[in-house]
Amino acid sequence: MLILGIESTCDETAASVVRDGKEILSHVVRTQTETHRPYQGVFPELACRQHFDVMLPIIEEAMKLAGVTPQDLDRISVASNPGLMGAILTGVTCAKTLSLAWDIPLVGVNHVEAHLYAAMMEAPQLFPSLGVVISGGHTHMLKMNAIGEYELLGKTVDDAIGEAFDKVAALLDLSYPGGPEVEKLALSGDKNKYPFKRGTVKKCPLDFSFSGLKTNVLYTLKGKECQKKAPTLLAEDEKAHVAASFQHTALSDVVGKSLKAAKGFDCQAIYFGGGVSNNQYLRSLIPQDINVFFPPKGLSLDNAAMIAGLAFHLETEENPLRLTASPRAKNLYPC
Ligand code: KG4
Ligand code: ZN
Repeated sequence: MLILGIESTCDETAASVVRDGKEILSHVVRTQTETHRPYQGVFPELACRQHFDVMLPIIEEAMKLAGVTPQDLDRISVASNPGLMGAILTGVTCAKTLSLAWDIPLVGVNHVEAHLYAAMMEAPQLFPSLGVVISGGHTHMLKMNAIGEYELLGKTVDDAIGEAFDKVAALLDLSYPGGPEVEKLALSGDKNKYPFKRGTVKKCPLDFSFSGLKTNVLYTLKGKECQKKAPTLLAEDEKAHVAASFQHTALSDVVGKSLKAAKGFDCQAIYFGGGVSNNQYLRSLIPQDINVFFPPKGLSLDNAAMIAGLAFHLETEENPLRLTASPRAKNLYPC
């Protein structure tokens, strides 16, 4: 079964053609990083306009690279939730239009679920398992009983982990997106130099909180009375130690809670997904004696191959015009 995937939930416009949920025939991603860099975060209105400008050329490119025509496609799939409403609407409207014009069934896909599916594309699909989504917009831990059957075990109560990396990067005068920059700087730092505290949420021990850690970093760099824009009080070469200590604290929190949840809920494997799962230090924290899977190269960050891949396992919409975009996660797990 050949499926076209479309992704536009945040600041990447992507299209991909995937066969039978696994074989990626094309994978095209256009990132908007340069547009959003001056704002050190995603500027939603600019994101929507850019999706609109590049959506059709990207779909055309993905189909050309895969060597397929509309007649060859069995399904069109699109990320329809969660994310930036205007950005999602661009993809959903485009997918509905193509579905009607080409008379091809449509599938709406949850972007968070697709991040987890990315880690299954080249790995065995083991259940029950733990899914850990760590991205710029989401930090979710789910027990997965099957594809489409999830229980929410933990989530962030404030910042998403990628957002915390981006904000700490800004405090360290690094560029956006901050995750890869913090990781690079941390390589020359001592992770034990600043004993930052992991965030704990008393009522829900598997929930995450990163805002205290971020404030810890702010006070360390600029003092307690500080303004975010104030100059840093630390010598330049201390910044690497701050980056390493922050990264260690945030990621060992994720790994610690994931291992605890996997053990407590008898999971056969852990699947990580989302932009932060690209981080190599995270991977070094995982013990050898457990089945842990990460997305293949290029599929950690937002992409459409994970959308088309997951759509192979889902039901098509009865009426494509009924598919709605939503900024919140739909129907998958109680949030
Ligand atoms: O999954 P993604 O592309 O978008 C969302 O769905 O949010 O994730 C983007 C996030 C950004 O916050 C970025 O800083 C972070 O992933 N990120 C990383 C790394 N690469 C990307 N964070 C830590 N280490 C990395 N190597
Ligand atoms: Zn994402």
